[in-house]
Amino acid sequence: MIDVRQVTKIHVRGQTQVYALREVSCQIPAGSFSFILGPSGSGKSTLLYLMGCLDEPTSGDILVNGKSLKAMSIPEKDAYRRHDVGFIFQSFNLLANLDAVDNVLVPYLARGATARQRQEAIELLQRVGLQDRLDHRPSQLSGGEQQRVAIARALLKKPKLILADEPTGELDTTNSAQILELLRECCREAQTTVVVVTHEQEHVRDTDYIVRIRDGKLGVPSPVV
Ligand SMILES: Nc1ncnc2c1ncn2[C@@H]1O[C@H](COP(=O)(O)OP(=O)(O)O)[C@@H](O)[C@H]1O
Ligand SMILES: [Mg+2]
Repeated sequence: MIDVRQVTKIHVRGQTQVYALREVSCQIPAGSFSFILGPSGSGKSTLLYLMGCLDEPTSGDILVNGKSLKAMSIPEKDAYRRHDVGFIFQSFNLLANLDAVDNVLVPYLARGATARQRQEAIELLQRVGLQDRLDHRPSQLSGGEQQRVAIARALLKKPKLILADEPTGELDTTNSAQILELLRECCREAQTTVVVVTHEQEHVRDTDYIVRIRDGKLGVPSPVV
């Protein structure tokens, strides 16, 4: 599903150039639960953002379901980010003055969310176990609960692909396990491809697909069991 071909990414910081990825090639199978695993600074986030079209490679290309991200027009890239990809970040990225339901609806609030979208948002919050927190604001929610809101927000658009950057990075062990289980459920039930960036090997299970990365270069991936 995601075919990364010879991708190099150089970040330019003032006079210095940082090679974040060096000729990386890998494939993430459709419908898989995959990890991008590597130490801090190895290029994991860079690779994930390139897959989500939040950034562009310096060279190389990424094909998603056979479609080249490089060849997409600006409106096509926009539609891909908006409709196909659900992003989840370490820091939850919720808006402080909105309750849980509105935070799920954020992508639609500007144009006015429909009653149906609002109902779906409530159902998704129920599904992630937050039925008693619908009118809570982020400050009234634990870290694990905030990440559940972020997951519900990502699920509202029924994405084909979920990209999660260290989604358990700010959570304790129990909450981390619950959030990963929730993401695994999304993968199983809706055949959504889920790619999770982490530096913690302990999250990985035998059936997961792993892309190992170190110093911007790939290690040997494991096959799907
Ligand atoms: N916007 C940026 N500008 C300059 N350097 C960057 C930028 N983003 C990442 N880098 C550098 O690229 C390398 C890989 O970063 P990153 O992809 O964030 O790694 P990881 O997510 O594995 O910690 C690091 O050396 C980092 O400092
Ligand atoms: Mg990172």
